[in-house]
Amino acid sequence: MDLQNRVALVTGGARRLGREFALALARAGMDVVVHHGHSEREARATCEEIRRLGRRATAVQADLADAAATERLVDQAAPDVLINNAAIFVRGTLRDTSLENWESHLAVNLRAPFLLMRAFARARGERPGKIVNLSDWRASHPGRAYLAYTVSKAGLTTLTQIAARELAPRIQVNALALGAVLPPAGGTEGDLERVLRRVPAGRIAEISEVTDALLALLRNDYITGETLFVDGGAHLR
Ligand SMILES: NC(=O)c1ccc[n+]([C@@H]2O[C@H](COP(=O)([O-])OP(=O)(O)OC[C@H]3O[C@@H](n4cnc5c(N)ncnc54)[C@H](OP(=O)(O)O)[C@@H]3O)[C@@H](O)[C@H]2O)c1
Repeated sequence: MDLQNRVALVTGGARRLGREFALALARAGMDVVVHHGHSEREARATCEEIRRLGRRATAVQADLADAAATERLVDQAAPDVLINNAAIFVRGTLRDTSLENWESHLAVNLRAPFLLMRAFARARGERPGKIVNLSDWRASHPGRAYLAYTVSKAGLTTLTQIAARELAPRIQVNALALGAVLPPAGGTEGDLERVLRRVPAGRIAEISEVTDALLALLRNDYITGETLFVDGGAHLR
C-alpha cells in the first residue's frame, strides 16, 4: 500500500508507543486520527506535532471498555489503516486475578480490537485496507504474572489470523509482537533489569526499530495473518 495521503486510526495514540506510531505514520505521509482515553492534553499535543509535519490530525476520545463508543470510532475516523495499539497491562496470577482485572483486559485488549476490526471491515467494502494489532511476545510464551493480559494478547493473535483469512485479498491483517520497548508506567529500574535478562539482544528496542516494522507491514500487500516479533529474540528463550 502506498501510504501517502491515506488515513490511519491509532488507538491510544496520544502518548508512549501510540504517539510514536502516529508520528511515524505522519512522517510516512499519512493523516492520522489520534484516539485517546484519558490523555486529552497529550492527544492534542500529538496532533499539533503531526500538523507541524504537514499532515492532518484529529483527536477523538472513546473509552474502549464501552462497546458502543468503540464502534463509533471507525465511522468518526473513516480510516484506510487501523492500528489497534491501546491496551491495559496489569499484573495478576491465576490466584489473585480479580474478575474486574480479567474483564477489563478482555474488554480493552481483545473486545475493542474485535469491534474496531469488524466495523473497519464492514466500512471498507471492496476497498483495500490494513490492520495491525499490537501484541506481545508473552502471548506465545505465557508466564504466570500477567494472566489476563497474556490471555487477551493470545486471543488477539488468533483474531488476527481469522480476520486475515476472511478479509483477504483486499485487507491485510497482521500483528506486531513487541518485547521491551518502553518500561511500563510506574516500572522500576529493577523491573527493567529483570526483563533484559530474558532478551538475547541485551537491550530494549529503539523506537525506530518498532515503527519501521510497523511501516514495513503496512507497505507490504503479501504478508497477512503474520505475527512479527520485534523483541530482540525474547520469544526464542
Ligand atoms: N511498552 C512496551 O514496551 C510494550 C511491550 C510489549 C507490548 N506492548 C504493546 O504495545 C502497545 C502500546 O504499548 P504502551 O506501553 O505504549 O501502552 P500503554 O501506555 O500501556 O497504553 C496505551 C494507551 O492505551 C489507552 N487505553 C487503555 N485503556 C483504555 C480505555 N479503556 N479506553 C481508551 N484508551 C485506553 C491509554 O490511552 P489514554 O492515556 O488516552 O487513556 C494508553 O495511553 C500495547 O498494545 C502493549 O500491549 C508494549
